[in-house]
Amino acid sequence: MKSALVTGCAGFIGSTLTEALLARGYHVTGIDGLTGNYATWIKRKNMESFIRHPHFRFVPCDLQLSNLNDLLRGVRYVFHQAALPGVRSSWGKDFSRYVHHNISGFQQLLEAVKESPVEKVVYASSSSVYGNMNGPTDESRLPAPISPYGVSKLAGEHLCRLYHDNYGVPVVSLRYFTVYGPRQRPDMAFHRFIRSIRDGTPIHIYGDGEQTRDFTYVADAVNANLLAAEKGRPGEVYNIGGGSRITLNRVIGLLESILDKKAVLFHERKQPGDPKHTWAEIGKAKAELGYAPSVSLWKGLKEQAVHLEKMLESGEGDLSTSL
Ligand code: NAD
Ligand code: UGA
Repeated sequence: MKSALVTGCAGFIGSTLTEALLARGYHVTGIDGLTGNYATWIKRKNMESFIRHPHFRFVPCDLQLSNLNDLLRGVRYVFHQAALPGVRSSWGKDFSRYVHHNISGFQQLLEAVKESPVEKVVYASSSSVYGNMNGPTDESRLPAPISPYGVSKLAGEHLCRLYHDNYGVPVVSLRYFTVYGPRQRPDMAFHRFIRSIRDGTPIHIYGDGEQTRDFTYVADAVNANLLAAEKGRPGEVYNIGGGSRITLNRVIGLLESILDKKAVLFHERKQPGDPKHTWAEIGKAKAELGYAPSVSLWKGLKEQAVHLEKMLESGEGDLSTSL
């Protein structure tokens, strides 16, 4: 039996990954504490399409409070997506929450995995471990995070290395580059930009809008997880970029065309912890995993806009975040 454990199964990427695994015939145990920076009703909605699937079991629990050894019984692959995300919100007194969710929770999971015959653990790491990038950046670059969040994700990678080197835990880290698409978190740029253009409210741009991101469509990030589970070399780290590196200003132009409406812009100061550019060199993921991004930014933005419109029309609840 093909069996997987997905942590963070109610989140943006975790729910999309769970759907993909179920569609491929996996039995999936999903764990999610329904915590974090945005409303629980959105997370429940993310799971709507599979919560009653006969091969899905939902464990609504914080990682550190769950009986992980029991949950890992019979599991072949673990996909660790649970974390408190968000670069800009990781400053201030709340950092202890990042430590709890992103470091301590993961260490508990690795402790449990080291006692079980799991074939592969895939860890959702982040481009934010690098800090600033001035050109195509590969995995040999020494990480130098510039946000507390980036530090917490890099600590996760170090835990992977320790548990791999000392206990042979077969863990692979994927450094996702700014993921977008249907279900994107409400604190993230495209989600906010689409809503602002639709509602005629100002888009708050941090800085001059000339920052770039190597935006990655969510289905490509999900596919990278499936490939990493099968082919990823334990102990290794892979960049997962979308090949759609572009400035925010140009994205806003694309969204104006898609939504057929002008954006109202309001510039704010650049935010601490935000890299000016991200730029993924994905040669290693291509060569070793067979990974290649497949969705263009234009198509991906359209999918996200359509999905968000449906959600807003349903009028189910407040989309605001605690950020
Ligand atoms: P998300 O907040 O939508 O999903 C994370 C989920 O994990 C949430 O549903 C949350 O309730 C759950 N969770 C958090 N801590 C938990 C805990 N201790 N126990 C159980 N459940 C817990 O975030 P996302 O955007 O889907 O990100 C998924 C992963 O990918 C995260 O690890 C994030 O750091 C990483 N990542 C995301 C991006 C991106 O652009 N979205 C980029 C790089 C890396
Ligand atoms: C995203 C995720 O939120 C992180 O969890 C992840 O780790 C990171 O990608 C990554 O690639 O590692 P970020 O790049 O900040 O972080 O993604 P967005 O929130 O979509 O922001 C993209 C850009 O838009 C940033 O420069 C940000 O400052 C800007 N932005 C965002 C605005 O100008 N206005 C907003 O309202 C929101």
